[in-house]
Amino acid sequence: MCGIIGILGKDEVTDRLVEGLRRLEYRGYDSAGVSTIVDGHIERRRAEGKLDNLAKTLSADPLTGRVGIAHTRWATHGAPTTSNAHPHATLEVSLVHNGIIENFKELREELQASGRSFESQTDTEVAAHLISREIEAGATPEQAVSRSLKRLRGAFALAILFRQHPDLLIGARLGSPLVIGYGDGETYLGSDAIALAPLTQRIAYLEEGDWVVITRDKVSIYDRNDKPVDRPITVSGVTGALIDKGNHRHFMQKEIFEQPVVVAQTLGAYLRPLEEQVALPALPFDLAEIRRISIVACGTSYYAGMVAKYWIEQLARVPVELDIASEFRYRAPVLEEGGMALFISQSGETADTLAALRHAAENGQKTAVVVNVASSSMAREADLVLPTHAGPEIGVASTKAFTCQLGVLAAFAANLARARGRLDAAEEKRIVNLLAEVPAAMNAALAHDAAIEEMAPVIAKARDVLYMGRGPDYPLALEGALKLKEISYIHAEGYAAGELKHGPIALIDENVPVIVMAPSGPLFEKTVSNMQEVQARGGQVVLISDPEGLRAAAEDCLATIEMPHVDAFIAPMVYAIPVQLLAYHVAVAKGTDVDQPRNLAKSVTVE
Ligand code: F6R
Repeated sequence: MCGIIGILGKDEVTDRLVEGLRRLEYRGYDSAGVSTIVDGHIERRRAEGKLDNLAKTLSADPLTGRVGIAHTRWATHGAPTTSNAHPHATLEVSLVHNGIIENFKELREELQASGRSFESQTDTEVAAHLISREIEAGATPEQAVSRSLKRLRGAFALAILFRQHPDLLIGARLGSPLVIGYGDGETYLGSDAIALAPLTQRIAYLEEGDWVVITRDKVSIYDRNDKPVDRPITVSGVTGALIDKGNHRHFMQKEIFEQPVVVAQTLGAYLRPLEEQVALPALPFDLAEIRRISIVACGTSYYAGMVAKYWIEQLARVPVELDIASEFRYRAPVLEEGGMALFISQSGETADTLAALRHAAENGQKTAVVVNVASSSMAREADLVLPTHAGPEIGVASTKAFTCQLGVLAAFAANLARARGRLDAAEEKRIVNLLAEVPAAMNAALAHDAAIEEMAPVIAKARDVLYMGRGPDYPLALEGALKLKEISYIHAEGYAAGELKHGPIALIDENVPVIVMAPSGPLFEKTVSNMQEVQARGGQVVLISDPEGLRAAAEDCLATIEMPHVDAFIAPMVYAIPVQLLAYHVAVAKGTDVDQPRNLAKSVTVE
């Protein structure tokens, strides 16, 4: 989603701003722009599409300046055109924005009534006009920003330049993240520490409602009531080198293949294999007292939560309610005392999940977050942080973050069961040993990459694809369908295998591939019966199972994908690999933009 960078530099900033935008590319965007102050006036260069287009615009029409702001835009209001690209400017100010200004219509009408004219369809432009109007009426930049912020409703991170003040940048944060970078005689603003990593490691995180006034040698931070506040400077530890794809063609492919290593790293933080015990980091509350759990997340992280519901209810017998984050707050959930709300997020910044976390905290729930970005808003706000150690995930489609989330959630379920006296030493030992097997089983699953690549062109021709699975493999059917949709643009749906006959089976004919996940185990035969109902109607099945399962049921399938034999408990972590690889190879066969699929953003910071 939108990325922001601002530099108050000792020397020229444009190239460094564009480099910062490249580091934010992974978030997903559809236009980009830069603004600086040149000889006392505001200059801008903007371009539709990828950053290369902006680079071309800049080489045809270079931009000088020692202070500047830059932006990658993910369109919310108005098409992704050059005129809607940020920065938005008036004669006096230029600004970039991440988030949504919800009351922009009424503000726009008010500003238009006072004679101001707009050049874009964006919500953002009202902020530029509000601040500009104050300045034209004689306010200082600080007064103008402070007054204007109080008029904005919604979520935003802003970085603002002022024509008459080439030694000044102002930033603000409400709902969308913004960090300050401290350099040597220079100061920076950025959406995250990754954008600023080549410039500085010294980072301060703005809190909700904060705004900051930056000059080359001074940083003044204010809270939402304009009271001066201090925010600690931390060392980010993010490497300055651009993360590269190694020998892989795409980040997504690299991240799929990294899974055995990063899952092992993640599990290493939650298992004590020698003692054959599971272990969570120090807990700020007693797990034994948790009476029910609400799991809340979006997209792929939600599917990880769905698997966790099976695990937690089976092992710990604690009732789990599962919510899509955008629905959670608005359905007025019953949040009783003694409840815990567990949030799952790769980025830790997803606006819906963050808002749900705050809602749960306000309603007396203990909050915990399974999160990949340790410095994210969710990690800073939750009572308990359960980190995944997946490393930066650059491909927009989540892969390694998902399996690392599953690793943490499995360990959490086992801990909860132990705390409630429902896991004896033998069962704990069994679970630890099963989890310790996962990286090797993932390697065995990855060994079937070439076979999956071979079948991909057939699936790439389909218009619709169905996925089915039972029990904890049902969420994988949903995840498989999501992966395929998002990167290959083929319509796909996931179903609980037993549900197909209640309607979706009407879709089946010889043109609809059906991907069936059926590890041998307690639910195998039931899943195979459902698969046979599909085959009886001409459905073309791709069966994903272990050697035993394939021996029993591969007849009449269009194709098979062999998995190692694993216990049903860890099957979701292993079976994630073939569904990811299948989506990946189908997308490559179709020639889509695998790492930055159309219309999608990595970190969705608007509601
Ligand atoms: C799908 C995908 C998204 C994210 C969702 C939540 O491949 O990546 O569905 O899972 O936007 O994002 P996080 O986990 O950052 O909260």
